[in-house]
Amino acid sequence: MRSYFINARATHWLLVVILFAVASYLPYLIFGAFPFATQVNLSEDKIENLVKELDLPNYYDLHIDQATEEDKLLEKQAFDSWEGGKCRFCHSLREDDRARMAPSLYRILGKPAAVGENFTYSQSLIEMRNNGLVWTPETIDAFISDPENYIPANRMRLEGIKDPETRQLIINYLIRESQ
Ligand code: HEC
Repeated sequence: MRSYFINARATHWLLVVILFAVASYLPYLIFGAFPFATQVNLSEDKIENLVKELDLPNYYDLHIDQATEEDKLLEKQAFDSWEGGKCRFCHSLREDDRARMAPSLYRILGKPAAVGENFTYSQSLIEMRNNGLVWTPETIDAFISDPENYIPANRMRLEGIKDPETRQLIINYLIRESQ
């Protein structure tokens, strides 16, 4: 009887430890969320310097206003839904959205990679920033069509969106919601 209780207690503790380990690991596994913020945010000046020479257009002045209500609904679905990009699942987009487990995509076009505030990026995304990656409609399109291939060992858990129209709708939505 005594050994039964000792065993039960050991099993109980083992279960608690396993549950704790799984609970800690799951957000990382599913969302790429990282529990410790270790990266120091870049200053506005440094961010500005990274794109200064490039002479990028102001993407938010681009005309996407011919869109009908139906187009707008399709854009929203492409960004939000499980059949679309499920971007909303991990990313906030508007300035006043609550923070989620991935960096905010507010005004992401025209920004260097990996400069979002208070987010611990993967080393591979930071290296891409150091190599001059800047988010434009083209680079975002390439990234979301096959994230793992475009930036090996990045931490965004997304299979890749094969349909070019869905990608276009998502990019339109990124522009529209940041205007
Ligand atoms: C499962 C969660 C998840 C989903 C779904 C997701 N992302 Fe991400 N995304 C992340 C994470 C985590 C990162 C940071 C990756 C890293 O540090 O390697 C990221 C990074 C990015 C970046 C780079 C941000 C920066 O500051 O450099 C862009 C752009 C982006 N995602 C766009 C999208 C779009 C568009 C979609 C929808 C098609 C999407 N993501 C879907 C989790 C997600």
